[in-house]
Amino acid sequence: MARRATITGWGKCRPPTSLTNADLEQLVDTTDEWIVERTGIRSRGINHMQTTDMAEVAAWHALAAAGLEATDIDLLVMATVTPEISCPSNACDLQRRMGAVNAAAFDLNAACSGFVYASTTVASMIAAGVKSRALVIGAEQLHWVMDYRDRSTCVLFGDGAGAVVLEASTGGDGMLGTDLGADGAAGTTMVFESLGTRRSLLEPRDPRSSALHFEGQAVFKIAVRGLTSSVCRALHDAGVSVDDVALVVPHQANERIIRSAAEKLGIGDDRLMINIAEHGNTSAASIPMALSDAVNGGRVDAGDIVVFTAFGGGVTWGSSVYRWGDRVQALGSSDAALPPTDRSVFDLLEPNRRFFAPLHPD
Ligand code: ACO
Repeated sequence: MARRATITGWGKCRPPTSLTNADLEQLVDTTDEWIVERTGIRSRGINHMQTTDMAEVAAWHALAAAGLEATDIDLLVMATVTPEISCPSNACDLQRRMGAVNAAAFDLNAACSGFVYASTTVASMIAAGVKSRALVIGAEQLHWVMDYRDRSTCVLFGDGAGAVVLEASTGGDGMLGTDLGADGAAGTTMVFESLGTRRSLLEPRDPRSSALHFEGQAVFKIAVRGLTSSVCRALHDAGVSVDDVALVVPHQANERIIRSAAEKLGIGDDRLMINIAEHGNTSAASIPMALSDAVNGGRVDAGDIVVFTAFGGGVTWGSSVYRWGDRVQALGSSDAALPPTDRSVFDLLEPNRRFFAPLHPD
């Protein structure tokens, strides 16, 4: 049978500190009722360490679930738009920290589609025989690029990391089909420039260009349309129908976006994974975090058709279709965790608020 890349390990890291809707009511003019009704979000993780710290925790869990050592991995890819540093890549830093000395390593930026882009790239390399055992991680520290005075963006995003292990298989399981696309012409609908060379280091950092901003309603429409058609193309590529799908694990941007797209596809709640309430939008981390919850929650059986789908800044989109293998329970467990903190969520957000405050007066 054809050589394909199958998922054999999964894991996530949700920082211990939460930013609840009640906390946000103290920062901006909003209400718990508005946020829940318009987005489905109740709480988000706020990280007290760095992006790579969360990535490492998720990666150790995924490796343990797959029953592998770090040295077994021959490729390590990290999808992120909030890297800890630009060079060396976060993936190279992780390779060093984990002792994954046999792995090639690189970062990939496709915003919220980052995990689907990264896992599809890696799965294609595995199918081609270039690599055999890979770690794919999505990790984001989005609170760092939030303007906590802009109620239309800051209520949506949270921090977190998720990871999968992909291994070569000839058993009929693995990635069956995919669809990746981009529309750079629509790129201005979702932007943040603070980490790029376009911004002079000497310029004052105006939150209107340094913090993440987007055109909410335009993005909403692009997302619903984009997710629906991308899933259809990926299913066609895989040679399966929507009736064959056991579970869709979508990017967790907004519960209303997910439900609108699912309705168009004819996917009911029993075949849909939603965990946005406690995480918010964690960009490239959201799908592997949701997958981890789905598998650990017993929602994936051997042989199931599982679909990932995402849209994000760029504009980018992507979907992939997997036939799940035999591994529905972790082979081993890891005790990796972020160290606890006694800092309050407001204390963690304070540097960010000071950073944005002078140019964004109340
Ligand atoms: N609390 C209370 N009111 C709010 C809030 C808030 N947090 N945010 C906006 N409002 C207000 C608006 O000011 C507006 O008020 P007005 O009618 O007086 O002008 C009203 O609520 C309605 O605003 P809409 O934008 O029409 O609200 P909508 O239902 O579209 O929800 C949202 C806004 C949640 C942003 C939605 O459009 C959305 O989720 N869009 C997609 C966003 C997304 O996924 N972005 C991904 C970006 S990824 C990236 O950037 C890399």
